[in-house]
Amino acid sequence: MNRFIWSAGSGIVLCGLLLMSCKHDPYVNPENPPMTGLCDPDSVYFQNQVLPILVSNCTESGCHNPQDHEEDVVLDSYQSLVTTVENGTLNDLHENKLMRAILDSDPDDRMPPPPNAPLTSDQINILKQWLSQGAQNNACDENFGGCDPADAKYGSFIQPLVQTRCVGCHSGNNPQGGIKLTNYSEIKTVALNGKLFSSVTRSSNWMPLGGAKLDDCNIQRIQTWVQAGAPEN
Ligand code: HEC
Repeated sequence: MNRFIWSAGSGIVLCGLLLMSCKHDPYVNPENPPMTGLCDPDSVYFQNQVLPILVSNCTESGCHNPQDHEEDVVLDSYQSLVTTVENGTLNDLHENKLMRAILDSDPDDRMPPPPNAPLTSDQINILKQWLSQGAQNNACDENFGGCDPADAKYGSFIQPLVQTRCVGCHSGNNPQGGIKLTNYSEIKTVALNGKLFSSVTRSSNWMPLGGAKLDDCNIQRIQTWVQAGAPEN
């Protein structure tokens, strides 16, 4: 009997320990919704798709970040978009000041201003679709159902990630930090000198600067690719 209680008891303690070690607290920025559900391919998510475009293309030094707040516009969060851009969530491309600036045909008024490249048509379509779907502060879990750290190819993973999250700041005549990330050889250079991995994992001022830290899965996938020698695969 004693023996039974002892083994049942230790079993419960063991299970408890196992459960505790498996439970991981999701990263929750106080003003962001937790990334819970599966990503629906027909929906556009602010935290996953829209905010990275704004952070990468609009918040570089001297522009719409909390320190510089050019024209009193800040684009580093949903809250700042809603409070600093007139009609920033309105699905009316003429009334919405954000879309007006992005779609302006006069290069002197267009955002981001030259010599920065205009947003791509894919990026503009993401913004338009998000507005037409109600401009919610929504998020989804890109790793719902599990992470495959081995899924780490340049063409299907690294290049699109850098394109969405980094290129806005790391391109043009005056790339931030003197680092350009516009093509394979430039990305390979920072991969092989260790700066790609260290910049996305450092505990403060991580890349993308001013944006949410990349999730553990994306960080592992970057590591896999760097350790494989940063192949153009
Ligand atoms: C909002 C602008 C911005 C975005 C977006 C951004 N960066 Fe940066 N990056 C900077 C600035 C400014 C510096 C120089 C200051 C510093 O190192 O913090 C920098 C520096 C770096 C460096 C050099 C770090 C070192 O150790 O010298 C690397 C590598 C880098 N960024 C990679 C990235 C990657 C990868 C992404 C996308 C995941 C990214 N950056 C997104 C602004 C940005």
